[in-house]
Amino acid sequence: MTEKTAEPATTGPLTTGPLTTGPLTTRPFGMARLRRIADFVDWSPGAALRSTGPVSVADLRREARRRLPRMIFDHVDGGAGQETTLQANLTDLRRVKLRPQILTPVDDVDLTAAICGQSVSMPVLLGPTGLARMSHRDGELAAARAAARAGTVFAVSTASSYSLEEIAAAAPGPLWFQLYLGRDRQGVRDLVRRVREAGYTALILTIDVPTGGQRLRDLRNGLNIPPRVTLRQAAETLLHPGWLADILRDPPVGFANFRSETGVSLAQREYSERLSSPTATWDDLRQLRALWPGKLLVKGVLTPSAARLAVASGVDGLIVSNHGGRQLDGVESSIAALVAIRAAVGDTAELLLDGGIRSGVDVVKAMAAGARGVLIGRPWVWGLAARGQAGVELCLELLREDIERTMRLLGTPTISAIGSNHVVLPREWTEVMAGENEHG
Ligand SMILES: Cc1cc2nc3c(=O)[nH]c(=O)nc-3n(C[C@H](O)[C@H](O)[C@H](O)COP(=O)(O)O)c2cc1C
Repeated sequence: MTEKTAEPATTGPLTTGPLTTGPLTTRPFGMARLRRIADFVDWSPGAALRSTGPVSVADLRREARRRLPRMIFDHVDGGAGQETTLQANLTDLRRVKLRPQILTPVDDVDLTAAICGQSVSMPVLLGPTGLARMSHRDGELAAARAAARAGTVFAVSTASSYSLEEIAAAAPGPLWFQLYLGRDRQGVRDLVRRVREAGYTALILTIDVPTGGQRLRDLRNGLNIPPRVTLRQAAETLLHPGWLADILRDPPVGFANFRSETGVSLAQREYSERLSSPTATWDDLRQLRALWPGKLLVKGVLTPSAARLAVASGVDGLIVSNHGGRQLDGVESSIAALVAIRAAVGDTAELLLDGGIRSGVDVVKAMAAGARGVLIGRPWVWGLAARGQAGVELCLELLREDIERTMRLLGTPTISAIGSNHVVLPREWTEVMAGENEHG
């Protein structure tokens, strides 16, 4: 009986109802229909001109891809070897699941945080990336200004394309400096003195570059650093006139912290020779600790044992990082490494993470898995390549909005309220964690 009465209710209107036989379908352009169409269209000229613009980091990446010649886009976008670690950074963050604490008041959400003693407006820092002027003429100057406006840190790379002093003069900070240990230790001491005199408040020692990673995209594209265009690349370059005009401006792109006697920035080969340091040891870190009175972080930590050694060397913070998958391909993702390291070091160290952060959801996941904050690399360079300083600002703003929304949806009104109860982690990460602890 129920089945019989249900039948006409679902099929009836389709065959006999007014929708198929009513006046609207038989008179397609009656006045009522025209009025509906007229109401449906937004006729204002402003609306016609307004474009939605980028609404995510992925959109900024697409814009950057359009503005940059392929060899430059690939240099920023690519990773080492088969890019398995680069991919793992992204896919493993997706494997972390969030658990909302519903019916928690989230009217006021506070994103401010303190990272290694530095207060920031949100727990996202601009990480060190070399030669930003290859992506946009304003390079690191634009990044420093955007970070200062957003109330966060810009970590300047040793391999910056403006000198550390020029960058410090461009914006009020806060600025940190990322250091590579070179073969020339006196050179490093001189650099550290300049960093201090220029007012940088923290030093990051990157420890995952005993030699350069194998960047297959760069090799295939025949990328030279600083960029020089071969005849093969000429047509592709001419299709990107905005970038070409940028790159031909003065000063030429180079490693601006290291000028030759003639005042010219060093080119890649001379620079690599000066800085590559296959002989670096934990002793060097201890010596740096004695030399640098400010906050000291170590970047490129991926295992609990390295984390313990770093803590014992007296650093103030550890950056769990695989260099965005650009160094040793095949190491695990930063987020998986973070989980194991957090379990091993407990509260004895302040942990930051970089690698694969593309949204506010990613930031919140990293924090719930044990990070105090995150650094971004490619996302801000994409913003820079797409729109200069405004693009870096937009990148930070999109992340800020997304963190805020995620915190509301998750039921966490403050950064410190985000914790392990807000995530479910893949079982194998926590199993490794238990194993690591058993073996010390
Ligand atoms: C173009 C580019 C240049 C980089 N240069 C440096 C560098 O000079 N020093 C450094 O410690 N890390 C460098 N990195 C690594 C970043 O600091 C960071 O670890 C990585 O980009 C984080 O991953 P993400 O790009 O997925 O955010 C660079 C990354 C990119 C993409």
